[in-house]
Order: sequence, then C-alpha cells, then structure tokens
Amino acid sequence: MTVLVTGGAGYIGAHTVRALRGANRKVVVLDTLERGNREAVVDAELIVGDIADQELVGRICKDHDVASVVHFAAYKAVGESMAKPEMYWSNNVASTEKLLAVLTEYKVDKFVFSSSAAVYGTPKSVPVTEAMPTMPESVYAETKLAVEKYLSTLAVRVTQPISSVSLRYFNAAGASSDNKIGEDWTTSQNLLPRVMRALLDSEFKFEIYGNDYDTPDGTCIRDYIHVEDLAIAHLKALEYLESGGKTMACNIGTGNGTSVMQLIELAEQIAKRKVPYTVSARRPGDPVSVYADATLANMTLNWHATKSLQQIVASAYSWHNTHPNGYRK
Ligand SMILES: NC(=O)c1ccc[n+]([C@@H]2O[C@H](COP(=O)([O-])OP(=O)(O)OC[C@H]3O[C@@H](n4cnc5c(N)ncnc54)[C@H](O)[C@@H]3O)[C@@H](O)[C@H]2O)c1
Repeated sequence: MTVLVTGGAGYIGAHTVRALRGANRKVVVLDTLERGNREAVVDAELIVGDIADQELVGRICKDHDVASVVHFAAYKAVGESMAKPEMYWSNNVASTEKLLAVLTEYKVDKFVFSSSAAVYGTPKSVPVTEAMPTMPESVYAETKLAVEKYLSTLAVRVTQPISSVSLRYFNAAGASSDNKIGEDWTTSQNLLPRVMRALLDSEFKFEIYGNDYDTPDGTCIRDYIHVEDLAIAHLKALEYLESGGKTMACNIGTGNGTSVMQLIELAEQIAKRKVPYTVSARRPGDPVSVYADATLANMTLNWHATKSLQQIVASAYSWHNTHPNGYRK
C-alpha cells in the first residue's frame, strides 16, 4: 500500500518523503516541478504531472495501489495570492477538489493536508489554540481554510467518507540533518533563507519589515519549527488515521516565539559574522506575534517538536553554505 505525496519535490514535501521512506513506507511523488526540484526527491519515484490531471492521478492510484495521500501541492506566497487570486483558488482549491474526486473513485480514504497557521489571521492572544476563530487575512489563507472546510464535509459524506488531518503549520525552517536537502532561497521568500542569503550573498539586500512593533525588540514574533520535526508530523497523522482517528485540524508548532532580531542574532553567532540589513516599513497584514499551542498534536498524534532553534539555524547555514544556488548547479 503506497502513500501518494503531492508536491513531494517541494521544500516540506521532500523532507516528508524521506521521513516516510525512513519508516519503510512505499511512496510515489506527483509534482509539476513548477516550484519544486527533481534533486530534492531522494529515494522515491517521482511522476511529473499535475494533481488536476484526473486521468494521471487515477492511473497512479491503480498502478501503485495508493491507500493514502499527503497533499502538499499548492502555491504558498501570500503576496502573490493577493495579486493573482484566481490562480490561487484554481490551483489550491479547484485542483484539490479534482484530486479528491479521483481519490473517491479509487476508494482512497485517508488524507493529510498541508494547512497553515495563516488561517487564524491575527490571533487575539497567544499561544494560538485550534479553538480560536479562523480569520484568514489573505487569499492564500482563504484557500487553505476552504480546503479544510471541504474536507470536513467529506468526512461526514454518507457513502465513501474520506478521513483527514489538516496540519496547520507554523513557520517551517531549517534543512535536513545530513545536509542533502533544504529550502532553496532562489524560490523562497521566507525569513530564514533571506537571513542566510544576507550572510552569504553580498549582492543581496535584506530588509526587516518593521522594528516598531509592540515586542521586546520591536520585531515580529513567530514559531519556527524544524522541517524534519514537521515531516514526522505527517507520518504521525497517517498513523492516527490508519488507527481509525477522526477528521481534525491541528497546530504543528513548537510553542516558542522567536523574534526576527533573535533569529538574526542566532544566525550571526553560528556564522561568526554580522548579518547586513536595512529596516523598511511594516508589511500590511503581518501579525505582531503568532506561536502555537501544540497540545492537540501532542495528545492525539503523539507528536512533539524535538529540535531546537539552534539546530534549525545551524542546519540552514550548513545547507546554504554548500548550496549557494539552491538546487541549481
Ligand atoms: N513553508 C511553510 O512555512 C508553510 C507554512 C504553512 C503551510 N505551508 C504549505 O505546505 C505546503 C508545502 O509547502 P512548501 O514550503 O514545501 O512549498 P513548495 O512550493 O516548496 O512546494 C510545493 C510543491 O507543490 C508543487 N505543486 C504546486 N502545484 C501543483 C500541482 N497543481 N500539481 C502538482 N504539483 C504542484 C510545486 O511544484 C512544489 O514542488 C504548501 O501547501 C504550503 O501552502 C507551508
């Protein structure tokens, strides 16, 4: 019985493929490679194609005896989603519906979905629990919540229900401990790859978006989770569904808040040099502080974050140092 990993050539998907293979799972990856890398898929078959191609997905289900799906394939840039909403609704929602229709046809009834802490918008208090209201503030976050809602209706469908876990990730960061795969800064806008680029690429202009927030050092606070810890959460979610667990959405974070300045200072200690930066205006819609209460994942998935912020930053530094052009030669 095989796990189909959509978007498995992307940053988190590739780490999850390795975690699944490490647990002796059979895996097949489906990815367009539009935003992923062939080289990131280590130790699994990669099929290049689109989740919306129902004929292809049907063939994969049949040929590989697919029993469950881990669904990463999506676009993820908040700014781009505001500029091109139709593209986000089409790829993140309509294509996911097409995928789920084929899974129904082939009786694949276990589904792990990459959701996001972005569904909470600006939380009224921290740490954020799943009981807090969802208030998406971007098209991207709306698409994640739309899929979560659709999945909750499929869970109670009279015939052929699909059980799912929507994992609401906080900020994935870091690289694999064997230095093989990481987050390519040529395609990522996330903070840690930008800090690394500022350290290693003298041409790069690194901006901090606002240092006048109501936090101890004035910069925004986020919950950074090591991508290998995040990868394991998918394995735990599959095990939960396989043992009859009910459809749910749960936070995947460490519970620790780290400011932009704290992350920069740690990177400076590890690299033993200064990170050059300038400070520009706040970005609209950036919440001041977001970090997780991960009790639900701890209790129901038996999942715990194990890696420190030091390990996150050190692994990223090591990978970027040896892969300055990401996956490009
Ligand atoms: N990176 C984060 O911190 C973060 C946080 C919250 C949620 N997420 C979600 O996790 C998932 C994975 O994120 P990531 O950081 O690995 O992103 P990524 O862009 O590195 O990976 C996404 C992969 O999906 C592929 N893809 C996109 N549309 C496709 C389609 N229609 N058919 C087949 N393949 C397709 C891309 O080519 C890419 O390889 C996304 O759904 C994202 O929204 C990421």
